[in-house]
Amino acid sequence: MEFQRLLSKIEVALTPGRFRHTMGVVDWAERMADRYGVHRGQVRLAALLHDCAKKLPDKDLLERAGQAGIPVDTEITEQPSLLHGPVGAVIAREEYAIDDPQVLQAISRHTLGADDMTTLDKLIFLADMVEVNRRYPGVEELRVLTLEDLDRAMVAALDQTVRHLLDRRAVIHPQTVSTRNNILRGIG
Ligand SMILES: [Fe+2]
Ligand SMILES: [Fe+2]
Repeated sequence: MEFQRLLSKIEVALTPGRFRHTMGVVDWAERMADRYGVHRGQVRLAALLHDCAKKLPDKDLLERAGQAGIPVDTEITEQPSLLHGPVGAVIAREEYAIDDPQVLQAISRHTLGADDMTTLDKLIFLADMVEVNRRYPGVEELRVLTLEDLDRAMVAALDQTVRHLLDRRAVIHPQTVSTRNNILRGIG
């Protein structure tokens, strides 16, 4: 499916606000792709489809995760919306005919990250957090950092996520901590 057709299809699948966010992610991810020398085509696809499962109710997310053999742990049972990454990758493959495993992986990992993230994975994760419609304290600094140092930006982004969860006394998924620790060790 060509990009324009995917774009029309995803626009219908998302709320207007989520579509605006998605286009912001496409835009920022392309900017990052140029900066880090990543294939623009993969970046555009992953960014465009990263939230394709966002509108699914919890019940459907859990059901599709079960069908696809996606592991569901305690934290995910408590907060099924965390599944919109991995289930999004399934939907991107089945309903949007995306067959590039690197693109599907970046979609799958955009919420919790992973212990061995590729540059494409990091780029989508970060563009999702700093695209121009995002508003939270510190976003401008983080936005600048995403164009300067990918790994330092990842640690700063994960710090921000953990801090936000601590402030709300919310459960922190262990993968968020593990993702942060692995990248932190890498930059020494
Ligand atoms: Fe998302
Ligand atoms: Fe998103």
